[in-house]
Amino acid sequence: MNISRPTLAQLEQMLEFIIHHNQDGETHIGYYGKGETEIRETLAEFAHPLEESFLLAWQDRELVSVFGVDYDPEIGRAWLYGPQVASPDWHAIADEHYAAIQELIPESIHEQELFFDFNNKRGQEFSARHGFLVHSSDAVLFLERDALRPVPTAPVQVCDYNEIFFPDFEALHQSIFPRTYYTARQIVEKLDDKHRLLLAIEAGKVLGYHFCKRESQSGYIDFIGTDSSVRGKGLGAALLQAGIAWMFEPAQIRLIELTVNANNQAALQLYQKFGFATKHILCGYRKRAA
Ligand SMILES: CC(C)(COP(=O)(O)OP(=O)(O)OC[C@H]1O[C@@H](n2cnc3c(N)ncnc32)[C@H](O)[C@@H]1OP(=O)(O)O)[C@@H](O)C(=O)NCCC(=O)NCCS
Repeated sequence: MNISRPTLAQLEQMLEFIIHHNQDGETHIGYYGKGETEIRETLAEFAHPLEESFLLAWQDRELVSVFGVDYDPEIGRAWLYGPQVASPDWHAIADEHYAAIQELIPESIHEQELFFDFNNKRGQEFSARHGFLVHSSDAVLFLERDALRPVPTAPVQVCDYNEIFFPDFEALHQSIFPRTYYTARQIVEKLDDKHRLLLAIEAGKVLGYHFCKRESQSGYIDFIGTDSSVRGKGLGAALLQAGIAWMFEPAQIRLIELTVNANNQAALQLYQKFGFATKHILCGYRKRAA
């Protein structure tokens, strides 16, 4: 087997391979999303060039395995996009490819994560064999434009982020989502016409926020949270409603998606109230460096 970085010319072939394998729950890697548009958009958000983030495995000039990695030195974590293997020799190829991908990960990264569809049994066996532990079970939910239901909300001021709120926002983000995949600073640096950070403000204090984005054909909710002292008063619903209205403004956006911990009853009920339904269940695995 020959393992090498993709050339620019091989990137389209790699993309086709991923699209094909991500259609099916048994070979689905959660990070990519589903369908060509979503997968292209996921790859466009990689922190490093794709030619430096992927390794392709070839047998007799046939592409048999794709494995990628994205990492953030600030958070100290790597996200492994794979293994996706097209061969009866699945586990042996996956193991060899996994060993090779380690060379793309800097030593400062002390944590690695994998993200498989609940039905990706070989991925789960792979995780166990390499010492990864289950750290989350996530539901991917979706809302179609026509399924949106009206929900009563609190009469709270929902406004766009402004830098004067950064200390408040950072403290809230850290307390609600400690050690998550974007820091507060990374969130505010992303803000543009496609990324929006909405804040719920009362008496000048930030009591909740919603960070969401518009992609070409769908919206995505990254984070929504309210201060634990004010929950159950309709603030979460107000933030969600404002974000949904913004994401659905362009007519071509017909779908909103998000990933939420499958045991998070409060959030699941909030989303279901608005008309969200479950698309699939994903399992996150994590390993710390020895
Ligand atoms: C999920 C969360 C944002 C809800 O915020 P909130 O301000 O409490 O939400 P609201 O008061 O607007 O509640 C709206 C609906 O959500 C559901 N809900 C909220 N809290 C709930 C709870 N503890 N148990 C069950 N359902 C709950 C209910 O359906 C509620 O409607 P109802 O009061 O008419 O029954 C909040 O609990 C939170 O910040 N959790 C931690 C962060 C998180 O898990 N975010 C979601 C993942 S991205």
